[in-house]
Amino acid sequence: MTAPRTFDGLPAAVGWTPMVRLRRSVEGAGCEAFAKLEFLNPMGSVKDRIARFMVERAFERGELRPGGTILESSSGNTAMGLAMMAIEHGLRCVMVVRRQTSQEKLDCLRAMGVELVLVDGDLPPEDPESYNQKARRLAEEHPDWWFPDQHNNRENSEAHYRTTGPEIWEQMEGRIDALVAGIGTGGTICGTGRYLKERDPSIRVIAVDPEGSVFFDWYHQHRLVEPRRYLIEGLGDEEIIGCPEFELIDDMLRVTDREAFLATRELARTEGILAGGSSGAALWGVRRVARTLRAQGIERPRIVTLFPDSGSRYLSTIFSDRWMADHGLL
Ligand SMILES: Cc1ncc(COP(=O)(O)O)c(C=O)c1O
Repeated sequence: MTAPRTFDGLPAAVGWTPMVRLRRSVEGAGCEAFAKLEFLNPMGSVKDRIARFMVERAFERGELRPGGTILESSSGNTAMGLAMMAIEHGLRCVMVVRRQTSQEKLDCLRAMGVELVLVDGDLPPEDPESYNQKARRLAEEHPDWWFPDQHNNRENSEAHYRTTGPEIWEQMEGRIDALVAGIGTGGTICGTGRYLKERDPSIRVIAVDPEGSVFFDWYHQHRLVEPRRYLIEGLGDEEIIGCPEFELIDDMLRVTDREAFLATRELARTEGILAGGSSGAALWGVRRVARTLRAQGIERPRIVTLFPDSGSRYLSTIFSDRWMADHGLL
């Protein structure tokens, strides 16, 4: 297959991101590791995929028309993808975003004409003004707005089942022992994981969840724990949501902010890959999974991961020595 020479509009350029073999960052790990550079999507993240897919579906069903309004809650990246789709189709874009989101992301969203509804990320999920409740409430108050609800809508996973999964399968020529990915809404890991397992049921699907999120205890013990604040953006949640299909996941690991951010910084210095905090979490997961698979007798496992967004969105946080020190992470 040859790459198209031109794209008819930005949304057409979503997907077919490069798959890069990791070298120095996995030296000594005894695995072959490959990362799909999702930050090379047009708006800079993996979330361009679901934005394009879900908006196109909504148009096909007649739920969206030019002049309509999109409403969503996002850690920033889905909002950027939806902003691209809103501009393409002449829509208004209202996004519920945590006030604590990195300044770079908030500035990008404003630059794209997004109307931000900022909420306090420290409010508990049951608070009507919290991140988890606010978009739901706005959707009820404005029934004419289109609310994709990425956290509970399995069309999110379907976008990855139809694009990310087949791309990985083709790029890896079907030779994969494990998929390791962070879990936020769960769309990436479940959609991609489902596709890969359908092609080869022996492929293991391993999720990485931040310490403080509720997924890890739910997955392992079906126990709902109190969420705690953490700093990794885009991963984990404060409540169990409807999008993830936990039964598709073979194991779930728990990463700390410190582990994820130190790996993120290392990735920049050793591979020249300037990626975000969830990419560091993924790299940390790849090394852990390499150890486990080798202990299970797979001599040199081939592990695939995704790097969801760019480090340029975290220059004032993860890549700032002062910010890292202020948070006790250096
Ligand atoms: C930076 C980043 N990494 C990872 C993810 C997780 O992807 P998913 O929501 O598909 O689980 C997200 C989702 O918002 C994200 O913004």
